[in-house]
Amino acid sequence: EAAESNELRSPIFVVLGHVDAGKTKTLDKIRQSNVAAGEHGRITQQIGATYIPRDALEQKIAAVARGSDFKLRLPGLLMIDTPGHESFSNLRSRGSDLCNIAILVVNMTSGFEPQTFESIRMLKERRIPFVVAMNKIDRLYDWKTTPDAGFAATFAKQTKNVRQEFDGHLKRVILQLSEEGFNASLFNENPDERKYISVVPISAMTGEGIPDLLLLLSRLSQQMMAEKLTFQENIEATILEVKMLEGQGTTIDVILSNGTLREGDRIVVCGLNGPIVTSIRSLLTPEPLKEMRVKTPFIHHSEVKGAMGVKIAAQDLEGAVAGGRVLVINERMSEEQAKREVMADVSHLLELISSTGRGVHVQASTLGSLEALLEFLRQMKIPVGSVAIGTIFKKDVIRASIMLEHQKEYATMLCFDVKIDREAEALTKELGVRVFSANVIYHLFDAFTAYMKELES
Ligand code: GTP
Ligand code: MG
Repeated sequence: EAAESNELRSPIFVVLGHVDAGKTKTLDKIRQSNVAAGEHGRITQQIGATYIPRDALEQKIAAVARGSDFKLRLPGLLMIDTPGHESFSNLRSRGSDLCNIAILVVNMTSGFEPQTFESIRMLKERRIPFVVAMNKIDRLYDWKTTPDAGFAATFAKQTKNVRQEFDGHLKRVILQLSEEGFNASLFNENPDERKYISVVPISAMTGEGIPDLLLLLSRLSQQMMAEKLTFQENIEATILEVKMLEGQGTTIDVILSNGTLREGDRIVVCGLNGPIVTSIRSLLTPEPLKEMRVKTPFIHHSEVKGAMGVKIAAQDLEGAVAGGRVLVINERMSEEQAKREVMADVSHLLELISSTGRGVHVQASTLGSLEALLEFLRQMKIPVGSVAIGTIFKKDVIRASIMLEHQKEYATMLCFDVKIDREAEALTKELGVRVFSANVIYHLFDAFTAYMKELES
């Protein structure tokens, strides 16, 4: 272990897994929140970030850390939630890029599912350490619940039949992991944590096993990552989402992995129409244990240390691109160098837009979802003429209407999770621009696919 004096930063964990495995619910249990219930279509469609401060963490692991010689040395930890829906592999990939350790959530009763495999392969390719949370143990027939208990304590209370059924499910998960090339073991029987993936049985519903999961993650971070988690002055920050915030204008939600951001810092971020240079006007964070996606009062800071999810308010952020980096101009980084570096990140996105400007118009609430829409259209071989983020205004409708003169069927707007201004809506009818709008992404895909089929026949 690193010397006591070394200042560790908070590690970042990303939660990955198939739709409905219980990723959001697991975080809800840790936060004592109910984010999952408020989601459109009951699925996650954006990346979320929640900071768990040290005292909350200490409290949550107490049930299993008591009596052990474990000493918590982390200032806290940052949890990143990702969508399991197949359309959002871009967001899973972005989430895993940011994390130190991943938590692969598997629904015990259904075993591995397509996005479980996708996630595992991504983790393997990138050599990201991970643990498996085998969720929904409370669904076992005749399971006796002890809310928020450690696994060993609750398992000791189960009947022989329940234990046998549990063993069957555990064996299957371990077998499926071995088929993907990983040795795995129940977490409290793990002979060598560097060689075997730990499987932690949990219930996001009853909280059982969650103390074990958090203790394991804390311990692994401290043991294996003391070097990586040492606090550094170099900024590592990535834009998760670009959002309007009442009273602040356009803001960016950023995962600050390392370093310190300060109010007034000159920053460079990547924009659709070139790099954006601006100064941080406000640095905001949600309250501890609050999800960044959820409307919550924000706390102002004059400086923020990583790892943390922060909201940055500044001028000219309208065109900022999620997934791009945030760089700070200082003696180590010139403005010119920063501009070059941030734009290197976005080129793939712009390649998806037709160079002639001919094609459908796509508008989304965030760039993460815009990317998912562009990928869908690329697979359908539908050209994209223009894109925008946020509420639909007249200018967007006019942009889409240009196609009426070229290729009428493309005078179409695909709109995900955005509002439409009243005048803009009237204009779509007046001009004959077709609007497909939904706030569950696959509903939008289905409606548009049906329309394209209709055109073909
Ligand atoms: P996506 O974000 O769409 O990928 O799904 P998710 O993995 O975040 O799943 P979510 O947390 O939204 O949970 C899906 C459903 O499973 C919800 O109805 C939850 O109430 C239920 N669920 C999650 N965890 C548990 C659990 O431990 N036990 C039981 N009985 N139900 C659970
Ligand atoms: Mg979710």
